Amino acid sequence: MSKEIVCSGIRPTGNLHVGNYFGALRNFVRMQDDFDCFFFIADYHSLTTHPTPDNLYNNARQILIQYLACGLDPEKATIYLQSDLPETIELYLFLNMNAYLGELERVAAFKDKVRQQPNNVNAGLLTYPTLMAADILIHKATKVPVGKDQEQHLEMTRTFANRFNNMYKNEVFPLPQAFNYNDNLIKIPGLDGSGKMGKSEGEANCIFLNDEPSVIKKKIMRAKTDNGPEAMNQTKPVEIENLFTLMKAVSTPDTVAYFDDLYNHCQIRYGDLKKQLAEDMVAFTTPLRERINEIAADEDKLRRIMDMGRDKAHESALRTLTEVRHVIGYRN
Ligand code: TYM
Repeated sequence: MSKEIVCSGIRPTGNLHVGNYFGALRNFVRMQDDFDCFFFIADYHSLTTHPTPDNLYNNARQILIQYLACGLDPEKATIYLQSDLPETIELYLFLNMNAYLGELERVAAFKDKVRQQPNNVNAGLLTYPTLMAADILIHKATKVPVGKDQEQHLEMTRTFANRFNNMYKNEVFPLPQAFNYNDNLIKIPGLDGSGKMGKSEGEANCIFLNDEPSVIKKKIMRAKTDNGPEAMNQTKPVEIENLFTLMKAVSTPDTVAYFDDLYNHCQIRYGDLKKQLAEDMVAFTTPLRERINEIAADEDKLRRIMDMGRDKAHESALRTLTEVRHVIGYRN
């Protein structure tokens, strides 16, 4: 029996952070043993922010290194560069013909970008969800490992797939679902006491997988806290809850329970909590950082992996695109 198809990607905007790891990468690594996986580096998507040519290249290379350092195996999963698969762009064009301005403008991530970068609200940003749908549908993937922030994009992918199927009275595309092994999609908070860990929220808000231990310690010690609990068992304010969420990701359950208990008894000292969190974060990232440095040295190997991934991804994409073209009415 053939395995279910999985597809996901990460934008190369610099180094991967702990949010990328727990929201996406950790699942990629597990899924490669159970499914037929396509994991790519979303370098077309990163063009929305107009990187320089050097940055585009170096960031994509860095993501490949970090994928491998986290345990992605090119013998198990197809690992490729999005821009090595121009079939995606043809499907993007077809999907754009049935993607409507109103629904694209209502996407939360688009509205955020309009607020963050009012001078660069380009058409690529508006049609970001159709490109993402094309990435997924080009392989007919059914499972998409992503963090909570991508839930709406997955919903739109289903809308576009369904619309295409209905329009051409054909079941070309399955309807993909966002996936996480723990059922609930994950959102890792940042260190600034609000929202999620993410590059656009600032570098100090993120812990990167290749941050040096001293940098991690500094960032965590500066994380926002309050004056401490005033009553037993009170609900934690968001910045404190955030630190506990990070702790749940990298510390043992006993450690979390210990500090939770101190908090509930108004005996917590945030300095101790942060010191422990920093220690556990460093223990978690150190092996990754070391592997990142090792892998970066083998240029030939990186090139071979990209070539192999491109060929495998191309085969799958061409199969879908041939069918899509035929269904639309393009006949040889
Ligand atoms: P990107 O590059 O913003 O993020 C990559 C992945 O990391 C997850 N993530 C998080 N998860 C939990 N907590 C956080 N703080 C956090 N920050 C980031 C994201 O949910 C994502 O899974 N649009 C995608 C890239 C993409 C894609 C695709 C994904 C392009 N085409 C097709 C899946 C399928 C993105 O911007 O991810």
